[in-house]
Amino acid sequence: MSETRVLVVEDEADQRSLVSSILRSRKYLVAEAESLAAARVQLEASPVDLVLSDWKLPDGDGTELLQEVRAEHPGVAFITVTAYGTIARAVEAIRLGADDYLAKPFERQALLLAIEKVLRSRRLEDENRRLAEELGERDRLVDLVGSAPSMQRLFHRVEKLAATDATILLTGESGTGKELAARALHALSRRAEGPFVAVNCAAIPEGLLESEFFGVEKGAYTGADRSRPGNFAAADGGSLFLDEVGELPTAIQPKLLRVLQEGRFTPVGGSREQAADVRILAATNRDLTVEVEAGRFREDLYYRLNVVPLQMPPLRDRREDVPRLVEHFTARAARRHGVRVGPFPAGVQRRLLDHSWPGNVRELGNAVERLVLLAEDGRVSADDLPAEVTRPARSANGFQLPPGGLSWEAHERSCLQQALEHAAGNRAQAARLLDLPYKAFLYRLEKHGLS
Ligand SMILES: Nc1ncnc2c1ncn2[C@@H]1O[C@H](COP(=O)(O)OP(=O)(O)OP(=O)(O)O)[C@@H](O)[C@H]1O
Ligand SMILES: [Mg+2]
Repeated sequence: MSETRVLVVEDEADQRSLVSSILRSRKYLVAEAESLAAARVQLEASPVDLVLSDWKLPDGDGTELLQEVRAEHPGVAFITVTAYGTIARAVEAIRLGADDYLAKPFERQALLLAIEKVLRSRRLEDENRRLAEELGERDRLVDLVGSAPSMQRLFHRVEKLAATDATILLTGESGTGKELAARALHALSRRAEGPFVAVNCAAIPEGLLESEFFGVEKGAYTGADRSRPGNFAAADGGSLFLDEVGELPTAIQPKLLRVLQEGRFTPVGGSREQAADVRILAATNRDLTVEVEAGRFREDLYYRLNVVPLQMPPLRDRREDVPRLVEHFTARAARRHGVRVGPFPAGVQRRLLDHSWPGNVRELGNAVERLVLLAEDGRVSADDLPAEVTRPARSANGFQLPPGGLSWEAHERSCLQQALEHAAGNRAQAARLLDLPYKAFLYRLEKHGLS
């Protein structure tokens, strides 16, 4: 408040100095003007936060000053002072953009209150504008880089959802940043100080799932010589990230459902229930609705997990983010490996932009790291791009039928096999490589006895 500058515009000297001294007693910095002309000079000379102006002035009226201030100093607050009985003028002043009005004669208290109220709402507006600008300009959230509109919307949702305890299901292709988004949700939440426990549901042998999740009581089986907490207990007060939740074997699903519903679980070999305050974040690159239909995923568990869906866009749908991501990964690789590289040649940049990135951000990150590592004397070379990136894009009509024709069945089988190989056995990804719906892909696998 000590830095707030107010310009008092009032032609009557006594009134002016009275108002000024009230304001000075409250530590406002006050400038005075007895006319429109003097007010203009003051406004030019030094910036003010607020203008308190009488309506009737010797060389014009308050509307003129108000309109000038609105046109030239839109950030300056404006309070119009009108004589008693001229409320219509006050209404007009508000219409023209005054923040408030005061009717003469006014009390000292009314004056101070009006000024404080106006300054406070101005400050709030400024703050909101600043936040909005920050949101618009920001190209990352925690570790997530992205300024494409789809990513900006995602950042916004992540921030909103971080404030809640809602269960969130992160979906999206492999390498789109599901885990990174889960970590951001945790880092921005009130649980940030608590643990973030990530469990890869696909990596735990089926027989160990229950003890991994719920822990083991001492003596539960031969060799269990002491109690061991599971993931739910470990994540108490924090977040539990169920990665690749679509791979959960059906046997464990009812038990998981129960914890999600009741927040309680029983360790293996235990008789007492335990409770844990855990926020669940889950991720999958499978289409869980397909898994539900196929009977591999319980519908009730699906609905429990999918309280709020969060879809990560594939990189090919937000290519404008490629240059920023390249910069991000270049800096990261340079830091990691203690090397420095110059700017990427235009040819390399173009290829990076043109590639469709089926492995999404992870694939781009790996390609950039490789370019940085293989750079000679800090010079990045197109020769070091992975073959998939330099190969011309797969196109619908790029395929040439051999002059002698082919066996359709054998061709289809070979495509399926190659897709599975490329995707290292990941069927969802293999289906995407062939641009087939997952179900249609499974059907064809079955047809060829490949499933
Ligand atoms: N928006 C992003 N900004 C910066 N780095 C990203 C972004 N998205 C992903 N990455 C990076 O790409 C890699 C893969 O991300 P992440 O592990 O979160 O993907 P995922 O969706 O969980 O993939 P998967 O389904 O294969 O597990 C990580 O190294 C991550 O840091
Ligand atoms: Mg992941």
